Amino acid sequence: MAPSPHRRRLLLILPVLVAAAVLWGALAADAGADTCKAWLVQSIPTDMPHLRRVPGVLSTGDVLQWLSGNATNSLDILAQYWQFLAQPNNPKSGDYGFSESDMKRFGADEGRLVYKALENAADRKIKIRIVQHSGFAPDFDKESADLAAGRPNIENATVLFEDWWGSGVVHAKVWISDKKDVYIGSANNDWKSLTQVKELGIYFANCPQIAKTVEVYFQNLWTLSTLNSTSYTKQAWDKEWQVSRKVPCWSHFLQPKERCRSPIPLSVDIPYVDGYPALANPEMIDVSFETPGYKKSTQEHYLSYLSFAPPEVTFGKFQADEQGWVDTINSVKLGGIVRMNTMDWLGQSQYATQTVYWSSLSSAISEVVFSKNATVRLIVAYWAHFIPNTEKYLKSLLYSNILCASSTYNHCGGKVEIKYYMVPGYNETGPALSQGGTMTGNRYPGFTRVNHGKYAVSDVRANIGTSNLIWDYFYTTAGVSFGTYNPNIVTQLQDIFDADWYSPYTVLVEPLDESV
Ligand SMILES: *[C@@H]1O[C@H](CO)[C@@H](O)[C@H](O)[C@H]1NC(C)=O
Ligand SMILES: *[C@@H]1O[C@H](CO)[C@@H](O)[C@H](O)[C@H]1NC(C)=O
Ligand SMILES: *[C@@H]1O[C@H](CO)[C@@H](O)[C@H](O)[C@H]1NC(C)=O
Ligand SMILES: *[C@@H]1O[C@H](CO)[C@@H](O)[C@H](O)[C@H]1NC(C)=O
Ligand SMILES: *[C@@H]1O[C@H](CO)[C@@H](O)[C@H](O)[C@H]1NC(C)=O
Repeated sequence: MAPSPHRRRLLLILPVLVAAAVLWGALAADAGADTCKAWLVQSIPTDMPHLRRVPGVLSTGDVLQWLSGNATNSLDILAQYWQFLAQPNNPKSGDYGFSESDMKRFGADEGRLVYKALENAADRKIKIRIVQHSGFAPDFDKESADLAAGRPNIENATVLFEDWWGSGVVHAKVWISDKKDVYIGSANNDWKSLTQVKELGIYFANCPQIAKTVEVYFQNLWTLSTLNSTSYTKQAWDKEWQVSRKVPCWSHFLQPKERCRSPIPLSVDIPYVDGYPALANPEMIDVSFETPGYKKSTQEHYLSYLSFAPPEVTFGKFQADEQGWVDTINSVKLGGIVRMNTMDWLGQSQYATQTVYWSSLSSAISEVVFSKNATVRLIVAYWAHFIPNTEKYLKSLLYSNILCASSTYNHCGGKVEIKYYMVPGYNETGPALSQGGTMTGNRYPGFTRVNHGKYAVSDVRANIGTSNLIWDYFYTTAGVSFGTYNPNIVTQLQDIFDADWYSPYTVLVEPLDESV
């Protein structure tokens, strides 16, 4: 007897149902041990007893060791320079002249452990790729070259941004392990970034979706390292910033007719517009992740994103890094608070040949102060290499308070508040011995005792970046931000900020005299 049409349909559907059930089971199992997890990561300098510690935050030294330790296949690293091994015996080093016991007290061992974990990964034949700037004194990129020496599984490449954008460096700090575990943050590949510089980042475990996107950016920089910049750059009249500057020949700062075919994946091209304007609907990453460092997440989804600098190496509909920051400021609710933390702040360029005036972030801040009654709190580092004209720009930003209150019709309820962050010992850094061998009196090595994290967090959205808040970092320098609306990350990042803001290590930046 032939099966009835009804039965035949059931027979056809049955395997589909079984397959769906199997798949469902696999997905449900995935939601256990294998779900994407994210933790905030910090480095806190030694000798800061009065800083409240936020529970559940990981340490950078541990995370970098785990990324190497867990790698079974590949490790891709973006770094400016390398200095995991301290050099107290090198007269050219900021570590010079400190004793063995000083170095121990400073936590230099942590750097050795991270480098050792990398060497172990290299010896396990993990395929390691490194994209870096040429590094700087005392020994530039020797550590990565040492890793690569005699090991065909290690590839090291240098991209000189000066050759492509006229100035700038690879300043993104990114580790990607096995295309699923990732670190993004402010920490350099430097022992000092583990125990003597205050850093902030985020660590993802089992997050192929995040890794896949950052990997495209890594690959773009890798591609630049393989190309002859002379044949791929042009001088552009940049209408947005009113300067003439060198850019990759596919840059949207060039008129469409002048552009070359891009050797990297295309980014969205907006006709009739100069440069890379903010995208109305940038690509978001819809990945739910657990946050074990805060509390078990609910199963709800929150959107996240990645943003990239310079705009010429972004791709698809991913936003440029400046937009990641601006939109985070703009995300503040009526009467809400935006918390921002940076080492350096300027309303202009720092390294460009022609000076650029840059008000993107300060305008965004003033806008939400005026229109949304928002409070914007900004922490800027005060340290040995403080940029002298910073204070003028901070006072200019504080003048928004006076302008906002300048008319009673404004009903101004918003305000900007700015504090300097002074890590104790910030004014006593440098080698312990001068080149001539005399004692300097310095209590800590050079380039230490500084608040180096770069992030912004509103009531609803967090942006964790690698860039200082200066024009060059967004237009001529490699940088990445991870951002998210995940409330656990948002709340914990606010808590980290508040621990700093209310610590004895900050002092208020005084406003301009109102009569000015
Ligand atoms: C792998 O990573 C986890 C955290 O994600 C960590 O607890 C573990 O120690 C790491 N394993 C190694 C060998 O580094
Ligand atoms: C890569 O490492 C090799 C081996 O040590 C070295 O000779 C080379 O100069 C390095 N290249 C770069 C770009 O760092
Ligand atoms: C790069 O290209 C320029 C001009 O096309 C050429 O003069 C130069 O030799 C090339 N450099 C390298 C390293 O190939
Ligand atoms: C902002 O705050 C002021 C003073 O607190 C208030 O008068 C005004 O209505 C608020 N504006 C908005 C848009 O909430
Ligand atoms: C460093 O700053 C602290 C606090 O501001 C001060 O007490 C100390 O004298 C300064 N040290 C030097 C070497 O200037």
